[in-house]
Amino acid sequence: MSVLVTGGAGYIGSHVVRLLSERGDDVLVVDDLSTGIESRVTGLPIVSLDLAAADAEDRLVAAIEEHSVDSIIHFAAKKQVGESVEEPIMYYRQNIGGLTNVLTAAGRTSIDSLVFSSSAATYGMPDVEMVGEDLDCRPINPYGQTKLIGEWMIDNAITSANIQGKKFNAVKLRYFNVAGAGWPELADTAVMNLIPIVLGRIAAGKAPIIFGDDYDTADGTCIRDYVHVKDLAEAHIAALDYMKSGATSETVFNVGTGTGASVKEVIDAIAEATGREIVPEMGERRAGDPPALVADVSRIGALLSWKAEFDLDEIVRSAVEAAGMLPEG
Ligand SMILES: NC(=O)c1ccc[n+]([C@@H]2O[C@H](COP(=O)([O-])OP(=O)(O)OC[C@H]3O[C@@H](n4cnc5c(N)ncnc54)[C@H](O)[C@@H]3O)[C@@H](O)[C@H]2O)c1
Repeated sequence: MSVLVTGGAGYIGSHVVRLLSERGDDVLVVDDLSTGIESRVTGLPIVSLDLAAADAEDRLVAAIEEHSVDSIIHFAAKKQVGESVEEPIMYYRQNIGGLTNVLTAAGRTSIDSLVFSSSAATYGMPDVEMVGEDLDCRPINPYGQTKLIGEWMIDNAITSANIQGKKFNAVKLRYFNVAGAGWPELADTAVMNLIPIVLGRIAAGKAPIIFGDDYDTADGTCIRDYVHVKDLAEAHIAALDYMKSGATSETVFNVGTGTGASVKEVIDAIAEATGREIVPEMGERRAGDPPALVADVSRIGALLSWKAEFDLDEIVRSAVEAAGMLPEG
């Protein structure tokens, strides 16, 4: 297989690039390095390109043809919810503009498979705890909206390719809370998710803050589904193989563990892994935080034969190790 990985120098993309390379697939990375780090993909061909730029479609076509690419995994996107509320149109230009160029370039070449990074943010604030793929998607911020529109665009591209008699399949993966590091040098350097935020606060000698401990959950704090980035990376490989086998009865899959962990449980796991006592501060609830959001993973288990291997302690330990915060000795 010859795979173009957009955003391959990013946190999740670089894990997939590493797995693809390890199993002998040819990999071409396209990344504008806006948040990516080039050393994560040292030794591999990389095209430095803003996918939303005016010349991106033509440059993608040239790169795809030069490297005989047959599949694309599309990670490249802006991903900060708060920033997307402040600058929604920039999010549409980057995430929708970038995907438009990827899809038009795929249509002009012999690309037959695409995997798209979608998100649990497409669901918004569901009033059920266990979220299945058939639930109505009602994203509550521009970031989640760009992901849902991206899914629709891909569905339309599949239909259009079918009408034209062209072989083109796509899988949309809705990630839940991605964390940990498969290799320390590929760790998440953005301090935006719970585990990196807590580690950052501890390293700075500050107490982590829990936003709301009066939710209707067992310990009062929000419950989320944390999935190890290496497990998530494996799900992309499974999705590619699923499409190559010709099976595409479903095209959208949750990626999570199917088990929730509360904010307090995550902080306890960090205390255990770092060997430090952590006394969190209590803060007010944040707007738009549902009490519990856990992935129903039955579909991905049944059709892609994928399931998460790492539990919360292993996820946290890998993140703590990558941050150089394991206890000495
Ligand atoms: N990290 C998460 O928890 C999470 C959860 C759900 C979905 N996602 C999605 O997964 C994907 C990857 O996320 P990540 O955590 O690895 O983020 P990241 O910021 O580490 O990676 C994104 C990569 O895309 C590149 N990029 C961004 N815009 C680009 C553009 N216009 N042209 C070319 N390259 C561009 C960046 O330089 C970076 O290397 C994103 O689409 C994100 O929305 C992430």
